Amino acid sequence: MSTYQTVLLDIRDNAAYVTFNRPEKRNCMSPTLHAEMCKVLDEIEKARCKVIVLTGAGDAFCAGMDLEQCFLEPFDKPELMAEINTNAFGWFTRIKKISAVTIGKVNGWCFGGGMALAGVLDIVIAADESTWGLSEINFGIFPGGGTTWAYANNMPSRKKALYYALTGETFTGKRAHDLGYATKSVPLAQLDAETDRVVKMLTRLGRVVLGKTKEVYEKVLDMDFEVAIDYEMAKMWELSRETNDDWVRTALVSFKKREFKPGLQSYEL
Ligand code: ACO
Repeated sequence: MSTYQTVLLDIRDNAAYVTFNRPEKRNCMSPTLHAEMCKVLDEIEKARCKVIVLTGAGDAFCAGMDLEQCFLEPFDKPELMAEINTNAFGWFTRIKKISAVTIGKVNGWCFGGGMALAGVLDIVIAADESTWGLSEINFGIFPGGGTTWAYANNMPSRKKALYYALTGETFTGKRAHDLGYATKSVPLAQLDAETDRVVKMLTRLGRVVLGKTKEVYEKVLDMDFEVAIDYEMAKMWELSRETNDDWVRTALVSFKKREFKPGLQSYEL
């Protein structure tokens, strides 16, 4: 377990567990937290983790940016503001692109920048009872710093997306699932167990194939079908080479012996 001032980091069994640890401030993201998250990601990448789980201590996931320390206090200090933004947007961009699978375990309050974070993660498991909101409108701004990108890309319905951004009305984790923002939602009492189950499923799989699955998904979104076919085939051979052709030489040989059913289980089981 690494000790930071605002974040807990525990790396075990191919997974990194990151906990925002400012429960008394509902885990809002201070300049120190942003700077520490840059170092946390360095540690995680060095450890070549397959999965990253992000959650919050206490009853909050993340109450967004620290409105006092990130905006009010540095407002007339442009250099300080620039440094805060470099760290904040630096780690947000990095975690969006990281090859490890990222899971948000949304245990409670999730506002503004917290929704931006949930929006760039790969999988979000929310507590039914968690409370979400695009609260920016309540203090006179629109969701910025990637938050508009995040809500627009995670809520497919324009009518619903704009409704929440325009009114600031809160919604539950259960509703976040209905809207497409969360992968699934479960009662808070089952949140740890469900997250552990998903982590176990993922950490059984190969690190390289997990990373390439994400990379190819992101890239093909902007391609036409024929270009995508060529790209996917090229990446397939790249994967094969980087993993010693394991999929054919191990997995498919094992399938030939009827040792596992690929539709139902992974060959690494
Ligand atoms: N920035 C700075 N301080 C915060 C933030 C924040 N985003 N969120 C909570 N805090 C502080 C509170 O000011 C309070 O501080 P204090 O103990 O010094 O008075 C402490 O955390 C606890 O907060 P309470 O309001 O007492 O907790 P409660 O559980 O009643 O309410 C809630 C939680 C609803 C999250 C409330 O704190 C709140 O509205 N926070 C702001 C949420 C928000 O709009 N975030 C900004 C999103 S926009 C963006 O990220 C750019």
